[in-house]
Amino acid sequence: MSAITVHDKTFVPYLPETLILEKVKELANAIDRDYADKKPLFIAILNGSFMFTSDLFKYLTIEAEICFIKLASYKGTKSSGQVITAIGLDTDIADRHVIILEDIIDTGKTMNEFLPQLRNQHPSSLKVAVLLHKPDATVYPVTIDYCCFSIPDKFVLGYGLDYDGLGRNIRELYQLEPGA
Ligand code: IMP
Ligand code: MG
Repeated sequence: MSAITVHDKTFVPYLPETLILEKVKELANAIDRDYADKKPLFIAILNGSFMFTSDLFKYLTIEAEICFIKLASYKGTKSSGQVITAIGLDTDIADRHVIILEDIIDTGKTMNEFLPQLRNQHPSSLKVAVLLHKPDATVYPVTIDYCCFSIPDKFVLGYGLDYDGLGRNIRELYQLEPGA
């Protein structure tokens, strides 16, 4: 793996596909154990979580349902601070064991705004599973129940995450080059 350029920025290899898949499988195994006989309902947040969601769901062996919503708050490599619901929830979550699947918790704003909306709909339980968390960037309180990787406050791309629309199809994770 070597450096790549996307739009105007250079990214260097960060997490290889084998390691990502290992961690996603461990997370699926933990959910298998914690949710046996609970028939959880996953809510995956588009766009960034699609690859994480697909791999996690394939590793899962318990009975589970999934639905998708679309939230957006990013422009380029900086959070715009505005959370927009582009596709809303079409599934009744009352009395369900709900697990949110998100690609990354950065400032925490997206989850901090979205979780109370879900709690208002009275799920039996509500947990958050993420591929990545940037603890040093998180300023809005969010409880993260399952996390594959805690990472530094640097922009990453690949494995579903984009920089201005590009890079989502890269199988491993790249990080903005040092000093950028
Ligand atoms: P938050 O609301 O600041 O926590 O931002 C969450 C959303 O911003 C995520 O769901 C991502 O879509 C996007 N995001 C945050 N950090 C990155 C990054 O390093 N690369 C790509 N997208 C990111
Ligand atoms: Mg996202």
